[in-house]
Amino acid sequence: MTKTMMKGFASALALTVGMSAAAQAADVEVLHWWTSGGEAAALNVLKEDLASKGIGWVDMPVAGGGGEAAMTALRARVTAGDPPTAVQMLGFDIQDWAAEGALGNLDATAAAEGWDAVVPTALQAFSKYDGHWIAAPVNVHSTNWVWISKAALDAAGGKAPETWEELVALLDAMKANGITPLAHGGQPWQDATVFDGVVLSLGTDFYKAALIDLDPAALGGEQMAEAFNRLIKLRSYVDDNFSGRDWNLASAMVINGEAGMQMMGDWAKGEFLKAGKVPGTDFVCIRFPGTQGAVTFNSDQFAMFGIEGEDKVAAQAAMASAILNPTFQSAFNVVKGSVPARTDVPNDAFDDCGKKGMADLAEANTNGKLFGSMAHGHAAPAAVKNALYDVVTAAFNGEYADGAAAATALAEAVAAAQ
Ligand code: GAL
Repeated sequence: MTKTMMKGFASALALTVGMSAAAQAADVEVLHWWTSGGEAAALNVLKEDLASKGIGWVDMPVAGGGGEAAMTALRARVTAGDPPTAVQMLGFDIQDWAAEGALGNLDATAAAEGWDAVVPTALQAFSKYDGHWIAAPVNVHSTNWVWISKAALDAAGGKAPETWEELVALLDAMKANGITPLAHGGQPWQDATVFDGVVLSLGTDFYKAALIDLDPAALGGEQMAEAFNRLIKLRSYVDDNFSGRDWNLASAMVINGEAGMQMMGDWAKGEFLKAGKVPGTDFVCIRFPGTQGAVTFNSDQFAMFGIEGEDKVAAQAAMASAILNPTFQSAFNVVKGSVPARTDVPNDAFDDCGKKGMADLAEANTNGKLFGSMAHGHAAPAAVKNALYDVVTAAFNGEYADGAAAATALAEAVAAAQ
């Protein structure tokens, strides 16, 4: 344990032993990238929950899905010696900051509230470092979803696709009906989000070998060539203005009937709900065809930075406690589109897509088919992720002769990044 972590640990201990968190807590300054309509609505649930416990909120939003811009802003704040109290963070980024000794310690709160028994182990792998709790998980999202306009689906025959071939047939039918078949925003993290689903559709063993184990043979082999050919095929269904478009504007294209579907994590559902749309009636949620039973997850966690001041450390502990509260987990995730980061939260308040998300997660976990999302920092550290992003985006934009050339480039890029 580093000095900073020790300090956080000691203060957190003092907190449970000596004083009440809420009574002593300062405001929390929170760095996050939840700036879309659906995200802001979910964030409000958190703000209001903390306000009801007497914890004030200082907002530090840094727009940009996937959080890359937020992570750049964070680095600047830490370099300046002034880290925010709490930071929205994903997967390997949490571990990297912990390894730098920058994070505080939530062990006392975790022990008092029994987090070990209720937070899924797949999440604990990122919430704990060296056996100590360093982040509070607020949700579980997953990336292998497709959000389809019900009207566009009905106009194209009404059957949700279950295989790659059926997906392509549906996209063709939507094209023939005069709409943009696939709503997409050309940003590297969005291209990578689609790629998560495409790779998983070629098999769970393949996803694991290529994107988790980073096996050079899987990264550069025939199945990867096929994955890139599928990605290149999907590119033919997007509109001319896709480049640089934000993900929530792509969701809006499906919501307003301009486009047939979006391949995106379940934060997209937050946008549909915010627009008053109802699952099953206005839109349909399916797993990326060919990935039924498997889940590529990402979990938003709030990492607490090692900071001076007992009142600030008390506020961190109080915020972490509020985040893990089962009632809050239900209320927040119903709005966010994600599912709870605890295994003991009832599904009653969730809509059909949320109930499916919870059931899929449990099933995938039981069957060894739950994997970290490459696109959202749960498969490999940032350096490798960025190398993957570069090749995926170049492939999406037609910069390789074919899928095989892209696969070769992918294997080389990952080798160089390690
Ligand atoms: C993800 C994050 C989600 C979501 C999305 C788009 O990385 O985990 O909570 O909001 O980015 O901003």
